[in-house]
Amino acid sequence: MIKFKNSEITPENIYKNRRNFIKKFGLTAGSIFLSQNLNFSANAAPKNEDLKLTEYRYITTYNNYYEFGTGKSDPVERSEKFKTTPWDIIIDGEVENPLKLSIEEINTMFPSEERIYKLRCVEGWSMVIPWLGFPLNKILNKVSPTSKAKFVKFVSILDPEQMIGQRFPILDWPYKEGLRIDEAMHDLTILVTGLYGKKLPNQNGSPLRLMVPWKYGFKSAKAIVNIKLVEKMPTSSWMKASPKEYGFYSNVNPTVDHPRWSQATERVIGEGIISPRIPTTMFNGYGDEVASLYAGMDLKKYF
Ligand code: MTE
Repeated sequence: MIKFKNSEITPENIYKNRRNFIKKFGLTAGSIFLSQNLNFSANAAPKNEDLKLTEYRYITTYNNYYEFGTGKSDPVERSEKFKTTPWDIIIDGEVENPLKLSIEEINTMFPSEERIYKLRCVEGWSMVIPWLGFPLNKILNKVSPTSKAKFVKFVSILDPEQMIGQRFPILDWPYKEGLRIDEAMHDLTILVTGLYGKKLPNQNGSPLRLMVPWKYGFKSAKAIVNIKLVEKMPTSSWMKASPKEYGFYSNVNPTVDHPRWSQATERVIGEGIISPRIPTTMFNGYGDEVASLYAGMDLKKYF
């Protein structure tokens, strides 16, 4: 047994310890990250499974969550007292069997498993995060979508009392996002309940957030209260704020630049003072799994 001093018992230490255990006994838990000293070459994009996990302290202190402010440290500094119980999620719209589930019911009905995914932000940085979650399709199948259900709309909580950012017209509140039904049904698309083997921190979108690993991070709405199946393509808060900058699809695509940021490379958060930039890969490296969803589509037009 490795003994930790109290001060050293961080979620990450516990987690690393568990991974060592997993390595030693030859079990597999998704991919194992051995590379401590990665040398990224300028041209070749490293495979996602060769990237190191981002440290817990970066994942939980460098956030985008405009309900709590637009600064990267605003979410951790301002969300500590945010109330995530009681919390109900309504799944309705074009479905045979609408449901209202408490977060406790969701946690019991849909056990979370670990998924290590890279989150690629449109601002040009990325993190590799061991999420805990379950496929969104499990919840969607429970409500039996009708044949009219072509898209899924996600709505985050509206609570300006608790969320100071919502007192200002920064975005069209509440935060809204959307997916096409086949994207939502894809097995890679998960609802997240935790990370690093722990309950999801408030600043990362507790108690329930979306994670779509082949799309830019902003598609992954936090603190979801409504999942609505709809016939028409929903307008997301970002599309409404700036339609030239944010399209509906928002697939990670190094060949289509955002008007303000090149998407060719990304900065890997937490890799030293001068974080290395690595080439960005199409669909954030998940092309083998998802490219077929867009066969024949012009992804420059449908950005
Ligand atoms: N969800 C809500 N409700 N509000 C937000 O401001 N920001 C998005 C997304 N989900 C956001 C949100 C953006 S821009 C990114 S990059 C990711 O959350 C960041 O997730 P993280 O803080 O867990 O890394």
